[in-house]
Amino acid sequence: MNGGTLRAIDRRFVHHPVMVAEVVEHLSAVPSGAILDATVGGGGHARALLNARPDLSLIGLDRDPAAVETAASALAGRGAAIRQARFDDLGDVLDSLGSPIVVGVLFDLGVSSPQLDSAERGFSYRQSGPLDMRMDPAQEQSAHAVVNGWAIEKLAGILRSYGDERYANRIAAAIAAARPIASTTDLADVVRDAIPAPARRRGGHPAKRTFQAIRIAVNDELSQIEPALDTATDRLAPGGRGVVISYHSGEDRIVKRLLRRRAGLDDEARFRGLPRPASQTPPAIELVPRGSRRPSPAEIADNPRASSARFRAFVKRSAASDGGEA
Ligand SMILES: C[S@@+](CC[C@H](N)C(=O)[O-])C[C@H]1O[C@@H](n2cnc3c(N)ncnc32)[C@H](O)[C@@H]1O
Repeated sequence: MNGGTLRAIDRRFVHHPVMVAEVVEHLSAVPSGAILDATVGGGGHARALLNARPDLSLIGLDRDPAAVETAASALAGRGAAIRQARFDDLGDVLDSLGSPIVVGVLFDLGVSSPQLDSAERGFSYRQSGPLDMRMDPAQEQSAHAVVNGWAIEKLAGILRSYGDERYANRIAAAIAAARPIASTTDLADVVRDAIPAPARRRGGHPAKRTFQAIRIAVNDELSQIEPALDTATDRLAPGGRGVVISYHSGEDRIVKRLLRRRAGLDDEARFRGLPRPASQTPPAIELVPRGSRRPSPAEIADNPRASSARFRAFVKRSAASDGGEA
């Protein structure tokens, strides 16, 4: 790859990684081995980690081929293996690379800035582009099919559950009435007009929540998180560490539920003060801290896309651990 191509890719895929210091602080305390970055994106977190711990190797996954290309060049010469894969393929990729067990995992969920900012990828409500929104352009379902093909009730359902949209029914009905809708800005106009005028001025751009919901549906983002995080936790070596950063309440609910279950906190609440039954699986991880962390005000001022981030971190227990306070 020549310098001109590299510069073109770098321009296309510039992403400011969120809570880098916190990610590095937690994950640089892992034993020697391989780290799995399941959302390698532009390679920002991965590079910072390898700078802090040059002895580690890194496996980076992303379903977006543009991200894979950028991460591969950003991490060239650093002993990183970058593969195009979805979360569902995580276990197979680790096995195929001969690294079934890793010492660290990182999930920095959602979309990257380059995906949001490239008009032609159709994620942006500010710039005109095709209704696309596919993270992997080889995937069949695009936003065009969702916007122009889905029944009103199904559309309203995703606007409510993936976008927390108060005016889901009105927006879904307006979209159906305006079909066929061809571009992102046409969709943004339909959404804006469907929202009562006083509400349009609250909570950012009026189409923001609708675009988020459609993007999550197009990429089937939420259903993959729990099984992938479960597998990643199984594949962590004792003393290995994990970080998950999520960006909206739907993601964080899934992450929190899975991590609490794997940390035995649900059982702790059920059996408080009683001996745990012999049949009970001992907790696999410890949450550190138990709750989530948020970016500093300085980071949010510098990078507004960090504003909704929630950071959750954990450590894998040893198999012999009894689940008591570590
Ligand atoms: C917030 S960005 C990660 C940015 C990265 N941490 C960095 O420092 O550049 C999230 C990335 O995860 C990828 N992604 C989202 N869902 C995915 C999934 N189910 N499987 C694989 N990659 C996914 C997206 O394509 C995107 O590049």
